[in-house]
Amino acid sequence: MKKSLIAPSILSADFARLGEEVRSVTEAGADWIHFDVMDNHYVPNLTVGPLVLEAIRPYTKAPIDVHLMIEPVDALIPAFVKAGADLITFHCEASRHVDRSLALIRQLGAKAGLVFNPATPLSYLDYELDKIDLVLLMSVNPGFGGQSFIEPVLEKIADVRRRLDAYKAETGREIALEVDGGVKPSNIAKAAAAGADVFVAGSAVFGAGTPEGYREAIAALRCAADAALAERN
Ligand code: DX5
Ligand code: ZN
Repeated sequence: MKKSLIAPSILSADFARLGEEVRSVTEAGADWIHFDVMDNHYVPNLTVGPLVLEAIRPYTKAPIDVHLMIEPVDALIPAFVKAGADLITFHCEASRHVDRSLALIRQLGAKAGLVFNPATPLSYLDYELDKIDLVLLMSVNPGFGGQSFIEPVLEKIADVRRRLDAYKAETGREIALEVDGGVKPSNIAKAAAAGADVFVAGSAVFGAGTPEGYREAIAALRCAADAALAERN
């Protein structure tokens, strides 16, 4: 049976102790570490770059999922791969040439994914599924942690799930479907039932404040998501 993956977003961590925070959530059961990169250009906020990724890399063996909210994307992709990214996703609108950016990520040895804002049309997927390992659907508008989950995105999740299931039936290849923004124990089951299998959670995990709290928060998210996934399968 398929299991959910929980990816705590470092955006809500204590940046003064980032390495320790990454180690704590890994020990608390995180499957992936979600690393939010913002440039004050594509989004109105500024976070961290490859140097910080390199600094936290030794603190976890979990895959690091780098979410680029930057424009343009291509120039920085090699630096993030070199710093230790396992997966790199970028926003459709932020690349002049989506196909080229996806190919670049894979060519350097990382897994590649495309990110869709709530209002971004899914048509970008029509010709790119062969180049994609992961689809990331935003359930908030990107830029800040702690926002509320946008409910109509559930339909979009279901739409992508249908496309990915059809693609798998045709090719045998599985593409992950990740949801990011406002995910909480109270709504994760709906996102899982609609078709997501990887769940980013920033404030819902780091908001718990202590390593024990992180463990409880991750367990609560996983429990609700896995129950919904079991029903879906
Ligand atoms: C938003 C980021 C998200 C966000 C998640 O632009 O991409 O990863 O920080 O945080 P929460 O779970 O608090 O919405
Ligand atoms: Zn993110």
